[in-house]
Amino acid sequence: MKFYDVVKKRRSIRAYKGDPIDMEALARIGEAVNLAPSACNIQPWCFRIILNSDIRKSICSCYNNEWIKQAPAIVVALGNREAAWKRLEGGSIIDVDIGIAMEHLVLAATAEGLGTCWVCAYDVKRMNSVLGILPPWEVLAISPLGKPAENPEARKRKPVSEVFRIIE
Ligand SMILES: Cc1cc2nc3c(=O)[nH]c(=O)nc-3n(C[C@H](O)[C@H](O)[C@H](O)COP(=O)(O)O)c2cc1C
Repeated sequence: MKFYDVVKKRRSIRAYKGDPIDMEALARIGEAVNLAPSACNIQPWCFRIILNSDIRKSICSCYNNEWIKQAPAIVVALGNREAAWKRLEGGSIIDVDIGIAMEHLVLAATAEGLGTCWVCAYDVKRMNSVLGILPPWEVLAISPLGKPAENPEARKRKPVSEVFRIIE
């Protein structure tokens, strides 16, 4: 798929078929994640693709929406706030770094015909605890991953002219 077609095709998918995911597609998605840029090339992340149903159940217990249980895989984006580059004022750049890498994953999954949905509205403390994640690592986002069982319309966006300005 061409890049702009992928960008246009991507949607947040909240209904999934249970079909297993092709492992070669997963490997290609991993390559795409690994090509993401990060401040000072620190790559302060680790992505876990959870196929194990017991672990998926634990993850789902941290998020108050039933649809996530349908997905045959759940992506867990782990970030290391301490290892990430710090802004001149001292703040960690981890949220920017993880956002870029996660979106590489999301777009690569779209190109593979797989659905995703960024999910951040989970119980953070419980999520870190059920997955045994200890500081300086933390779960910064998750996403279901699998064949979409819906084809939602594109959600409305602000006019391009409001958010993208060319200053000559
Ligand atoms: C950082 C971030 C966090 C999000 N968290 C959630 C979430 O917890 N639950 C959910 O259903 N969707 C979540 N979304 C998906 C957004 O609601 C969705 O991207 C937005 O409504 C636009 O729809 P689209 O992705 O289909 O274009 C999140 C998206 C982002 C980028």
